[in-house]
Order: sequence, then structure tokens, then C-alpha cells
Amino acid sequence: MAELNSKKMRAVQIAAPHGALKVAQVDIPEPAAGQVRIKVQACGVCHSDSLTVEGAFPWITYPRIPGHEVAGVIDALGSGVTGWQVGERVGVGWNGGYCSYCDECRKGNFFACENVHAITGVTSDGGYADYMVASATALARLPEDLSAVEAAPLMCAGVTTFNALRNSGARPGELVAVLGLGGLGHLGVQFAVKMGFRTVAIARGADKEALARKLGAWHYIDSSAGDPAQALKDLGGAKVILATVTSGEAMAAVIGGLGTGGTLLTLGAAEPFTVPPIFLLTANRSVKGWYSGTSMDSQDTLAFSSLTGVRSMNEAFPLENVAEAYAHMMSGKVRFRAVLTME
Ligand SMILES: NC(=O)c1ccc[n+]([C@@H]2O[C@H](COP(=O)([O-])OP(=O)(O)OC[C@H]3O[C@@H](n4cnc5c(N)ncnc54)[C@H](OP(=O)(O)O)[C@@H]3O)[C@@H](O)[C@H]2O)c1
Ligand SMILES: [Zn+2]
Repeated sequence: MAELNSKKMRAVQIAAPHGALKVAQVDIPEPAAGQVRIKVQACGVCHSDSLTVEGAFPWITYPRIPGHEVAGVIDALGSGVTGWQVGERVGVGWNGGYCSYCDECRKGNFFACENVHAITGVTSDGGYADYMVASATALARLPEDLSAVEAAPLMCAGVTTFNALRNSGARPGELVAVLGLGGLGHLGVQFAVKMGFRTVAIARGADKEALARKLGAWHYIDSSAGDPAQALKDLGGAKVILATVTSGEAMAAVIGGLGTGGTLLTLGAAEPFTVPPIFLLTANRSVKGWYSGTSMDSQDTLAFSSLTGVRSMNEAFPLENVAEAYAHMMSGKVRFRAVLTME
């Protein structure tokens, strides 16, 4: 690649749905009022980046730079930004910020903010680049003991599983299953263990058992070796199944393992599946979704991870190798998160 001139940066800009993932030179963005510019150091490759790459929704606008697991350093402040300094280490996740004063924000419903509509890497440019701009309300402070590569996956895979589990209603000692051992799932297992749940990991095949046990799981169920719902029932029935898989069929196969009052908490964006209402109503069971978190939730996730030793297991790729990193994630072979590095 040619030398960068001072106003240009490297970025992976998707021109249109199904466009190529390749590095190009684009203008370095300027922070608008209320925004900061971040010198990106690392960015995780989340399965949700496929929404941008594949054009899953008509409201995703192009060209677009994906990436919503961002860790870096503040490089410039837009007008009116207070409380943040150039040089501070920060992270940005899926939630691209909020105004904090509209009616939805005042109810705590920050994702429905009436004034800021940014979803990082989806409706605003994200972290597959040397620099990005972000709303100051989207920033989380990074703890000193987490490197950028360690922190990046916590900004989506981490906060989503941590936040879902801490709001799931499960109590220490109760049976919590984590379905799927990918980017989200391998962090979900670690958080569930550290929160004191009797944690079960469920994945396809025997080969992930050793990794699941290394992550702290008390039990492992190979969903391809038998009926995973029966295996969960044999353990007493789950209070929560945290479903991180991309397959609705895989969720349908385990839901029968919910105990009384149990909830299947879906994080995975999967195809529809059917649930017998009689199964839900006869024991107060439910199916529920969970949507990421705010910048404060991310900061809580980072602090909890720093305190308890929860870490993402990563495979790092230089930004130039973005296509390889993305394909590795989509193949399901990554153990467990591909992370792009900029330096
Ligand atoms: N709710 C939210 O706010 C939120 C946030 C981030 C991501 N997501 C969504 O969460 C999902 C997981 O993201 P990720 O980054 O963790 O993905 P990932 O690393 O690619 O992992 C995908 C997981 O899906 C499982 N899987 C794939 N195909 C399957 C099949 N046919 N049957 C059973 N299991 C299958 C794999 O299970 P095995 O371990 O068995 O191989 C793997 O654990 C995606 O749908 C993503 O869009 C949602
Ligand atoms: Zn994500």
C-alpha cells in the first residue's frame, strides 16, 4: 500500500451489500459537535458485522465501515465535549450514543433515543479503520490492565453476555446453560461461572469440551451426541438458557431443557423457530431477547472482567488481512474471536 498522506487513513469501506472487504485510503473523519475522534488500536470481528457486509436491512446505508468492538485512544475532541481528554483510552460498542434528555432516554430506553440514531458500524462508520468518530455518550473508559486487543471483544460480545446474564433473574447456584461456544458464548460461559451460576456449556461436537472446561464450565453437553434438552433436564432443568447460536433450530432443540420458571434468553440473530405455548404456560417458562448495552454497561463489563480475570480468547489479524479474519469468523473455526489490529 502507498504511503498515507496526513489527511488519509486506511479503512475497510463496504461499497454496497456483499461488497468486498478490502483496505482502501479514505479521508480521516473530523469529529462533529458532541463527538470525539478515536485512533483505533483494535477492533473485534463480530458475527453481527455480517448484517453490514450482507445488507441484512434496507435501512443500512452505504458506503459503510463495519466494526463495533472498538478499542483505542481519543485523538481529537469535537466542540462541546466535556469530561473526556485527548489521550484517554476508550472503547465503543454497538450503541452509538444517545442524547440522555429525550423521553425515551429519560425512561432508560437508550437504544430508542429520539435524537441520536447511530449503530456503530451499521448506520455510522465503525472500527475497521485507523480512525473513527463516535458520540461522547458512546464511550467506555478502558481499565489500565486490559490491552486494546483484550478490551475490544468486551465491547460487544462481552457486554451483551454480561448484561444479559446480570439481568436474567438467575441467582448464584442456579443452573444456567450457555448455548454455542463462539465469540459471545465463550465469554458467556466465563461470566456465568464468575457470577456463581452452575454453568453448562452446550456446543456441537466433542472437540469443544476441553475448551469449555478450561473456561470454567461445570458441565458440557455435546448437542450432536444426543438430545440436549434431555441432558439439561437430567441436570435439573435450566433457570436460564443463554442462546448465543446463529441457528433457531439449535435453540428449538434445547428449549425443552428449561426448568420451572426458566427463560430462554436469545442473543443470537437466528431464523424463527416454534415453541409449544403449552410448554411455556404449564411451568411459567418464557422466551426473551436481550439487546447489547449502553456505554455504562460496557464500562461495568470491563471492570468486572478486569476484577475477575474474564478474558476473550483471541486470534489477532492485521487490518490488511480483514477478508481472512472475517471468513475465519464466518466459518465457525475461530477460537474464539478474530480481532483486527491497526499498529
Ligand atoms: N443480542 C445482541 O445484542 C447481539 C450482540 C452481538 C451478537 N449478536 C448475535 O449473536 C450471534 C453470535 O455472535 P458471535 O459473534 O458469537 O458468532 P460466532 O462467533 O460466529 O459464533 C456463532 C455460534 O453459533 C453456533 N452455530 C452456528 N451455526 C450453527 C448451527 N447450524 N447449529 C448450531 N449452532 C450453530 C456455533 O456453535 P458451536 O459452538 O456449536 O459451533 C457458534 O457458537 C450472532 O447471531 C450475532 O449476530 C447479538
Ligand atoms: Zn457484535
